[in-house]
Amino acid sequence: MTRPLIKEILGFPPESQDLAVQGWVRTKRELKNLIFVEVYDGSSFDGIQCTFDRGNGGFSPSAEATLTALSTGCAIAVTGRLVPSPASGQAVEIAAYGIELIGDAPVETYPLQKKRHSLEFLREIAHLRARTNTFGAVARTRSRLAFGVHQFFQNRGFQYVHTPIITANDAEGAGAMFQVTTLDLDALAVSGKVPDYQRDFFGKRSYLTVSGQLEAETYATALSRVYTFGPTFRAENSNTARHLAEFWMIEPEAAFADLEDNMRLAEDFLKFLFEIALKDCAEDLAFFDARIEKGIIATLQSVLDSRFTHITYTDAVKELEKNTAVFEFKPFWGCDLQSEHEKFLTEKIAKGPVIVTDYPKEIKAFYMKLNADEKTVRAMDVLVPRLGEIIGGSQREESLSRLEKRMLELNMKPEDYGWYLDLRRYGTVPHSGFGMGFERLIQYVTGMANIRDVIPYPRAVGQADF
Ligand code: 4AD
Ligand code: MG
Repeated sequence: MTRPLIKEILGFPPESQDLAVQGWVRTKRELKNLIFVEVYDGSSFDGIQCTFDRGNGGFSPSAEATLTALSTGCAIAVTGRLVPSPASGQAVEIAAYGIELIGDAPVETYPLQKKRHSLEFLREIAHLRARTNTFGAVARTRSRLAFGVHQFFQNRGFQYVHTPIITANDAEGAGAMFQVTTLDLDALAVSGKVPDYQRDFFGKRSYLTVSGQLEAETYATALSRVYTFGPTFRAENSNTARHLAEFWMIEPEAAFADLEDNMRLAEDFLKFLFEIALKDCAEDLAFFDARIEKGIIATLQSVLDSRFTHITYTDAVKELEKNTAVFEFKPFWGCDLQSEHEKFLTEKIAKGPVIVTDYPKEIKAFYMKLNADEKTVRAMDVLVPRLGEIIGGSQREESLSRLEKRMLELNMKPEDYGWYLDLRRYGTVPHSGFGMGFERLIQYVTGMANIRDVIPYPRAVGQADF
């Protein structure tokens, strides 16, 4: 007898095949002589219905006892035959003849009962929430799209580079880093001494990385096209529905590529992933569309069928200034775009994704290429409705002298970045890249409102449980 996954069983022809299903009970219903048990194993959105018919001569005493005690969450193995299902909404079901209880889930204490639970409550039991429809669907979509990221880049000649997690440099120059140390801080506090980082594990102050970009650039100027996909960390004190302290970022970097190439790559990348979601996560998306964000499928489809709007920061600010009255934060040239501004640009002006380019240098990182106006840089942010920024990137400054000048303006020490500046000293080329927060992508595709619900164990201000 085979023991396939439910996903596989649902695709089998109903040919009166004998099989065993293992999984967990989603629901149990009784109707006269019939007992319907829906079993799921997480391999697909749908579970499989196992129908026990007492009218066929009854079951063994132990099977009867198991069926009577069975409740939501119990782990079971069912044996039976795959038959065409008379019920609507399912092609096949199992005409069951045997059942074995593998693991009980007492009704009195099991937190996930058949009713609908709030997302807030489920966050408190994150170790069990993947068993719900919503979080099972998020987990499957996340898995498929992570694979899709690799498919997209590998198909285009980008090589996967593993950049370090622990680093001594602040890639974004934003200072929101988590320190990594093995110094005995408690003892230091008691003694009143200042920490001597030369005696710390790495011999200098070290941190969890905010981005793998700088190291990715070193590989792009050796392998031409590379990408990273790994965890990144930000100690920003922002308690919002789109910020995490630990998130996964994808960062492609391409040599001999300018901002136009970068924008095209970003658009193709997003569309490729939306297409995969629509095609390979259809059942899960149908659920998100029905229960989480109405119209999400049509939205993804319409994005696929249209071009992203392009607008410079300067023009975007002009548009925003025409509508100053609707904003809490008054827009002006030089301001960092607030999420209300990003929402307005995507939802009211472009009615879809927008790529904003050429931001003032003051609000962007040191490594971005300076434009001829000496005021703006070759930056690009891809903004989407509902979320705002999903991708941030730029063409990089490839001139050694201009990059050094910019670092000095920002009170950075060029000597701390000698290795990075070497890329401009030896065989420098125009190159570009971007970063996409993987959780923001998953939020966009699933319609989940809170970023804490698209990663298994969210880490955010005041939150590091599990
Ligand atoms: O715009 P950011 O800060 O850009 C970089 O880190 C560059 N080094 C990328 C590059 O050019 N290689 O971050 C990139 C993306 C954002 O657009 C957003 O999607 C995501 O990372 N992101 C976050 N996601 C979740 N929580 C946070 N705290 C995030 N901060 C950024
Ligand atoms: Mg950004």
